[in-house]
Amino acid sequence: MTPGAISAAGLTSSTDSALSVTGLSKTFGFSRVLQGVNLEVRAAEVHGLVGQNGSGKSTLIKILAGYHQPDPGAVGMVGLRTLKLGDSRHAFATGLRFVHQDLGLAPALNALDNLALTSGYRRSRSGTISWRRVRAAAEESLGRLGYDFDISVPVSRLSASERTGIAIARALDSAGSRPRVLVMDEPTAALPVAEVDRLFQVLRTVLMGGVAIVYVSHRFSEVLEICDRVTVLRDGRNVATRPRPSLDQPTLIDLTIGRALPLPSELVDRDPTTMDPVPALKVRSLAGRVIDNVDLDICQGEIVGVAGLTGSGRDELADLIFGVSPRRGQVIVGGEVVPSQRPDLSMRRGMALVPAERLLKAGLGRMTVRENITIGNLRGFLSRFGLKREVERQEAQQWIDRLDIVPKDTEAPFVTLSGGNQQKAILARVLRLSPRILVLDEPTQGVDVGARAAIHDIVRQETRRGTGVLLISADSEELISLADRVAVLVHGRIAGMYSTRDMTPSMLTELTV
Ligand SMILES: Nc1ncnc2c1ncn2[C@@H]1O[C@H](COP(=O)(O)OP(=O)(O)OP(=O)(O)O)[C@@H](O)[C@H]1O
Ligand SMILES: [Mg+2]
Repeated sequence: MTPGAISAAGLTSSTDSALSVTGLSKTFGFSRVLQGVNLEVRAAEVHGLVGQNGSGKSTLIKILAGYHQPDPGAVGMVGLRTLKLGDSRHAFATGLRFVHQDLGLAPALNALDNLALTSGYRRSRSGTISWRRVRAAAEESLGRLGYDFDISVPVSRLSASERTGIAIARALDSAGSRPRVLVMDEPTAALPVAEVDRLFQVLRTVLMGGVAIVYVSHRFSEVLEICDRVTVLRDGRNVATRPRPSLDQPTLIDLTIGRALPLPSELVDRDPTTMDPVPALKVRSLAGRVIDNVDLDICQGEIVGVAGLTGSGRDELADLIFGVSPRRGQVIVGGEVVPSQRPDLSMRRGMALVPAERLLKAGLGRMTVRENITIGNLRGFLSRFGLKREVERQEAQQWIDRLDIVPKDTEAPFVTLSGGNQQKAILARVLRLSPRILVLDEPTQGVDVGARAAIHDIVRQETRRGTGVLLISADSEELISLADRVAVLVHGRIAGMYSTRDMTPSMLTELTV
């Protein structure tokens, strides 16, 4: 059954408005990032919100959540009530709920504690927390969404979809007011396809409870699967709001970026027999927390992909190989063994890592975009008189143009960039090191379709210089279009190594479960 069919059977008419904003503008300093935007979400629908990195999606959501103030003149309504835009308490009182991309959970705490953190209303009259009642309520709210897992294990040990479930349960906690609209900002950026299906079942349950959903994603296949209608933003303005049946992937790409995707630069099909027989990277008997006895070779100019569900060890692999977390076994780069926990030596041997949680781990918020791009290696800019700023600025500008980073300003503070544009700046930082081995952990997480094509193209070009690439990704399409071979991780071990030549994304997904 489609979500649309569910909504038709729901309590409210599916054409009633659950949330609307009209004439919404937002100016930061001199830049107007939203210009008279309108958004209307109907009761019991999933409303997609898409647009390129920096098009204004998160800003719109943060205004709804009361985190930012809009420019004067905008009108917001939740059902028949006027919404005081920019007022977080009022947003909550009217029934708006949010799941932000980082989920905002405390990883060391278990599901119960994470839910209890926000459930002050379950205090007894004497003011003490009744843990029995909190536990029962937590189990009930997760159970209602169809989850059945141990709520006493730390959240960090749960799968990504279970963690998303806790964030949704917490958002929908009915303390104080009835939830009417659940807004999710890129909830699946790091979810493997198999876990996305699980999330969609949960969202359908949420819909049946009479809650409308706003769904932000760069993955258009998902948008087309779950959304009833889609609003497209470009440069802070409305481009279109269309019902799903009138949309397909090419139309969405066209609406978001305003042109067709650039064709990848031409590559000669590589013949594996002509590749260097000495692997650029050799991994032997690698073991960590989940990873268990992994062997892997990457030749020069080869891209080896790694697929696997959450908990398969996929998210641990990059840190182990780069030497960030302690490992057993051997990592050999260009014939030399690199000791464990020495990322500095990994780098000196020519290895570079783009970590998955790069905004947390690598983003230097107070610095400029230029500094964030060039900080990995400033040698080319040093002179007797200090840094050659202009040379540095020009190189940063080239990367900004190449990856289409918005704004095109080398001196913009990094924190003011949208999530996807921050990702691109950190990718640029690593790519400009021209590494011998490039470890990419979710390289296109949260970036738009245009930037994704640009990044894929740059990675392919890197291999032409002989760089060996380890590509760890939850995205089967990405693995197949980019990698020569894919290792499938199951319970910490390589369950199989496959050529991507005749593989389809759904075949690969099958292999990971
Ligand atoms: N605090 C701020 N100060 C200045 N500019 C900002 C600030 N916050 C956001 N912006 C700018 O507003 C624009 C819209 O950013 P926003 O985060 O809304 O984009 P987005 O559509 O969510 O992109 P993404 O897909 O990358 O998450 C960007 O150009 C960004 O640089
Ligand atoms: Mg965003």
